[in-house]
Amino acid sequence: MKCMVTGGAGFIGSHIVDRLIADGNKVVVYDNFSTGREFFIKHHLNDKNFRLVNADLKEVEVLNKEMKGVEFVYHLAGHADVRSGFRDHFIDHEQNLEMTQNVLEVMYKNDVKNIMFASSSSVYGDANIHPTPEDYPFEPTSLYGATKAACESYIRTYASYYDMRSFIFRFVSFTGARYTHGIVMDVLKKLKNNSKELELFSDGTPRKSSLDVKDGVEAIFKVINKSNDQFNVFNIGHDEITTIDHVVDWIIEAGGYKNVQKNWLGKKSNWKGDNEFVLLQNTKLKALGWKPTLTIEEGIKSTAKYIMENILTAND
Ligand SMILES: NC(=O)c1ccc[n+]([C@@H]2O[C@H](COP(=O)([O-])OP(=O)(O)OC[C@H]3O[C@@H](n4cnc5c(N)ncnc54)[C@H](O)[C@@H]3O)[C@@H](O)[C@H]2O)c1
Repeated sequence: MKCMVTGGAGFIGSHIVDRLIADGNKVVVYDNFSTGREFFIKHHLNDKNFRLVNADLKEVEVLNKEMKGVEFVYHLAGHADVRSGFRDHFIDHEQNLEMTQNVLEVMYKNDVKNIMFASSSSVYGDANIHPTPEDYPFEPTSLYGATKAACESYIRTYASYYDMRSFIFRFVSFTGARYTHGIVMDVLKKLKNNSKELELFSDGTPRKSSLDVKDGVEAIFKVINKSNDQFNVFNIGHDEITTIDHVVDWIIEAGGYKNVQKNWLGKKSNWKGDNEFVLLQNTKLKALGWKPTLTIEEGIKSTAKYIMENILTAND
């Protein structure tokens, strides 16, 4: 199959690319490198089944040209920083919703019939059912979550208008190789600058689930390969949940730091839009025979080691 991966040079997208190429597909990576990195995909650059397009999704003429002959779009490109929407009220709208409509419109014009979309547990906001099932209503507390919910609705509508198949996946936080943003990165950067004292958001009590990216990608392809439905919505998470305090301890340990003073700056969550309890129900996914291979602790520690060896630079 000829596939397009938007955001294919990013953290999660590059793992999707690896899997598609390994399965013998032709892959077009469409990425503007705003947060993506060439070294995540450079091992494919000489592959005849691989094509890299360095362009923005707002360049619809380029997108339209590159969409010719594509049969399946994996839409990963987006603004993945949940926190910034509180200060910048338009970035999620532009980068998540408008760019998703660009993708859908160009798919429609080129008669592309399959889309996979990277949604998020943020669509549920501060859900009061745990683990949260897929039929829990949209109650986002961030513009990021709000636009992900809107993107899902746009995808559902285009899919219904034009007989497309849609695969919507609501991820918890992913960890693992090529991780570039999120708590593990933030804590390691701070420790690099001050290995004795660490200032931290919240009071350490918020509880979150997370999942290794390779387990997440395996779940995505399990669903795509097994489902015969036109509209598919699946949570992708872990059955485990842990406190932020534990996560920070694991990062400190994996980073080789000792006797670090943790200064918790807030009560519960202290940034607007954060959700203090994130645990998704995975019953639908597990019915297809999927289960995670790494614990949350293993995932966090291996991510910290990966970042120390590959991502942190002298300037961080
Ligand atoms: N990382 C997570 O834990 C997580 C959790 C839930 C959902 N998601 C979603 O999964 C997707 C991928 O996340 P990620 O963590 O890999 O982020 P990422 O920032 O590493 O990847 C996003 C990629 O999209 C590219 N991109 C962004 N805007 C673009 C544009 N306008 N045109 C072309 N390319 C563009 C970036 O350069 C980057 O390569 C995002 O949509 C994110 O919201 C991620």
